[in-house]
Amino acid sequence: MTGVTEIPTVRLPGDVAMPMLGLGTWQADGGRCYEAVRHALRRGYRHIDTATMYRNESDVGRAVRDSGVPRNDVFITTKLPPSHSGRERATIEESLRRLGTEYVDLWLIHWPPGGRAHPEVWRELLAARDAGLARAVGVSNYSLRQLDELTQATGETPALNQIPWSPPEHDPGLLAGHRERGVVLEGYSPFKGSDLRHPTLRAIADGYGVSPAQVVLRWHLQHRIVVIPKSVTPARVDENFDVLGFALTDAEMARIDGLRGR
Ligand SMILES: NC(=O)c1ccc[n+]([C@@H]2O[C@H](COP(=O)([O-])OP(=O)(O)OC[C@H]3O[C@@H](n4cnc5c(N)ncnc54)[C@H](OP(=O)(O)O)[C@@H]3O)[C@@H](O)[C@H]2O)c1
Repeated sequence: MTGVTEIPTVRLPGDVAMPMLGLGTWQADGGRCYEAVRHALRRGYRHIDTATMYRNESDVGRAVRDSGVPRNDVFITTKLPPSHSGRERATIEESLRRLGTEYVDLWLIHWPPGGRAHPEVWRELLAARDAGLARAVGVSNYSLRQLDELTQATGETPALNQIPWSPPEHDPGLLAGHRERGVVLEGYSPFKGSDLRHPTLRAIADGYGVSPAQVVLRWHLQHRIVVIPKSVTPARVDENFDVLGFALTDAEMARIDGLRGR
């Protein structure tokens, strides 16, 4: 047992506390998204990841409102589609309208527009933050070089970079590069990137009486990587949140790190 009973948080600039485990909602449509978010909030999740491109912001917003959980107890992320460059302010205003909220906790550029950093788009995110529409701003799918380009152009480094992360994708150099820059690393597709039947994950999971999926999420948290597993299946939504009752040893962490590229 770890003794930890609450999902840990990481601090983003502006003293914004971000729960390190959240619910992903890509490919969760309409009613299924609504029910998954309602279930997750009942279970204790306080962090929901959506995006304009997921077309489910209204379902997320309705679920948060209907849950009775105070808005400021839930951390909501949404994302600017790269094709909306030049229409940043209108896009965040639309997101807020659909979410039924006056601010999001985190607004990200979903992908580098046209594969390039585009500091002028980043400037618009900073302006939206300064206008109080987002408490923190960051990016997704940016390289370290592209992060540096934004910092050099504006003097402001993205709070966070959301990129794929799972044991086979583990890259200590890339993780260190984010830490050196003070950029929080948020990992997406923790399961799609993993082989949940891998014998190493299964053996470690069996030792604790948990599932390989829970081992993967626990591994993210012990690396201090924010993780946002998606599920629309209530039992899995519960399972993915139930990762505080065991702790991986240093040797087990190293074995999972060793799945890189496999
Ligand atoms: N910024 C980006 O470009 C980007 C890209 C991709 C994803 N994301 C974000 O990251 C989130 C997570 O990534 P993802 O949706 O790609 O993939 P994921 O969370 O790695 O995997 C989701 C899949 O795993 C299944 N699953 C969930 N819990 C499970 C468990 N305990 N055991 C076995 N299978 C389980 C889900 O099924 P059911 O739902 O049927 O239960 C679903 O098929 C997304 O939802 C999205 O919010 C961001």
